[in-house]
Amino acid sequence: MPETTLFKVTIDNISIDVPAGTSILNAARMIGGDVAPPAMCYYSKLEGSGGKCRTCLVEVSKGSEKDPRPMPKLVASCRTTVMDGMEVKNITSPKVVDARAGVVEFLLLNHPLDCPICDQAGECHLQDLSYEHGKEGTRYEFQRRTFKKHDLGKYIQLHMTRCILCYRCVFAADQLTGKREHGILDRGDHSEIATMIEKNLQNDFIGNVIDVCPVGALTDKTFRFKNRVWFLKPMNAHRDCPTCSGKVTLWNRGEEVFRVTARKDQWGEVEDWICNECRFEKKQSSDWIIEGPRLIDRHSVISQGHYAGTVGTNMPTETIEAVLSGRQPKLLMDIHEVSEVNRPQIELSKINGPAHSNNFNPDND
Ligand code: SF4
Ligand code: FES
Repeated sequence: MPETTLFKVTIDNISIDVPAGTSILNAARMIGGDVAPPAMCYYSKLEGSGGKCRTCLVEVSKGSEKDPRPMPKLVASCRTTVMDGMEVKNITSPKVVDARAGVVEFLLLNHPLDCPICDQAGECHLQDLSYEHGKEGTRYEFQRRTFKKHDLGKYIQLHMTRCILCYRCVFAADQLTGKREHGILDRGDHSEIATMIEKNLQNDFIGNVIDVCPVGALTDKTFRFKNRVWFLKPMNAHRDCPTCSGKVTLWNRGEEVFRVTARKDQWGEVEDWICNECRFEKKQSSDWIIEGPRLIDRHSVISQGHYAGTVGTNMPTETIEAVLSGRQPKLLMDIHEVSEVNRPQIELSKINGPAHSNNFNPDND
């Protein structure tokens, strides 16, 4: 076997030897922790992904051993390969931290701040990024983009206003289904995800676009508005599926299965693609062999307060005053009262035990 050439790269003062051809982002992931830049569009399992969102920008302070000149501009770490002797700064570079705040501001230009009613809240990479790098206010004074509604079939909901045009779903549809089912139409701020002539996405594996979407633009219609992810208990489970690996994460409340997703690794990427039947049709505990609680590796709100998790139980500190520089909020609204989505006519305090999807099921009204 030919010997692999190894290149030494130093990222945030930590050195590692990686095979030639490795991207800076993947080298940083090998080191792990905060050294790994955030990635909103790169997805290691999707060919051609990356280079769209610029959240992974890093500073190359030394090009290589042979040519030590620094790179003149910040580079997208998902699209730049390491050179031998390269030195990279991620969180240790004030330029990177500043640029990332700018990228987040750009990503949020048109993105609605509807986290309180968005199903992706709690596991949204843009939400995390906004907390870590975002600014409190917006400088954008124009009307945000709006779109004509598109119907993507009975399982998948598209909220185009939330889309950050990362192309992951396009690559996933293209590469998993063997037949291109949808794409990005138009250019610039008119760009949008759409199926040609409103054709439904009909393919056994198309549900995976929900898992690859880093924001709440593509969500599961069978789970829509049913619960918040941090109230659910993620469990590893499997079944003997003729179509896919059958290895999933169940999101339960008590015995009730609210949602089925693929299992995700520490970078938020799917480990094994799952089929639509497992994802959308198997919502009974009896459909599954439960393996045990799933550890959510990312420092996620989902890990907080769970009986099993890598983070443990931490009481949140009061943040509103802190982000308002000590000022009291002028107005606090109870989302349950102001949002039609949550059915204000249902009095939560009168429900016996925790609220379940049954309480919010239109058939019960
Ligand atoms: S819908 Fe989601 S996955 Fe698809 S391009 Fe938009 S943000 Fe990316
Ligand atoms: S992750 Fe590198 S540009 Fe989006």
